[in-house]
Amino acid sequence: MPKLLHLQVACAENRVIGRNGRLPWRIPEDYRFFQEQTAGQIVVLGRVCFESWTRVQLDGRRPVVVTRNRALANTGVHVAGSLAAALAIADALPGEVHVCGGERIYAETLALERPMRLHLTLVHATVSGDTRFPEWRQLDWREVSRRESSDASYRYTFFTLNRP
Ligand SMILES: NC(=O)c1ccc[n+]([C@@H]2O[C@H](COP(=O)([O-])OP(=O)(O)OC[C@H]3O[C@@H](n4cnc5c(N)ncnc54)[C@H](OP(=O)(O)O)[C@@H]3O)[C@@H](O)[C@H]2O)c1
Repeated sequence: MPKLLHLQVACAENRVIGRNGRLPWRIPEDYRFFQEQTAGQIVVLGRVCFESWTRVQLDGRRPVVVTRNRALANTGVHVAGSLAAALAIADALPGEVHVCGGERIYAETLALERPMRLHLTLVHATVSGDTRFPEWRQLDWREVSRRESSDASYRYTFFTLNRP
């Protein structure tokens, strides 16, 4: 039985999520939220995200890395050659499945016909970058919650959106 998929993303109003392999902002409240949401869970992520998140395995996270590079399996993490293979591994492990990007992983996940919950931090700014979250607004979401917040640099809203 496939599990509910949790998608974790922070994106700007123009859908930018990354720049030069890193986040295009520093928002401590969102970073803490993301760490708490994924602690102890299975995180499905692309190879670039995995390499830039050096402490992914702290707090009991179990990464399933999507890559064509099988050698990564020698580092003790689950490795899959496609999103479908990664989700098959994740579904067989105990715990929640959190899909953490990047761009192609998000696009392929949103195209799936299975229940999902989007944990979206919408950063109310137009930001320059080279990676984007796919257009999600036209999909059939039901809003579960929203909370507005801000820091000295940004205003942002934490949304929880469900798709049956
Ligand atoms: N704001 C946010 O919430 C958020 C979230 C995630 C990421 N980001 C940002 O996004 C950027 C990283 O994302 P990215 O899209 O550039 O890279 P990525 O998805 O992390 O990694 C890309 C690599 O993953 C593998 N891969 C991805 N999809 C695959 C597929 N369907 N089948 C097989 N292999 C696949 C390939 O690895 P190989 O080349 O090894 O085969 C590919 O080169 C960074 O700037 C990061 O900070 C932001």
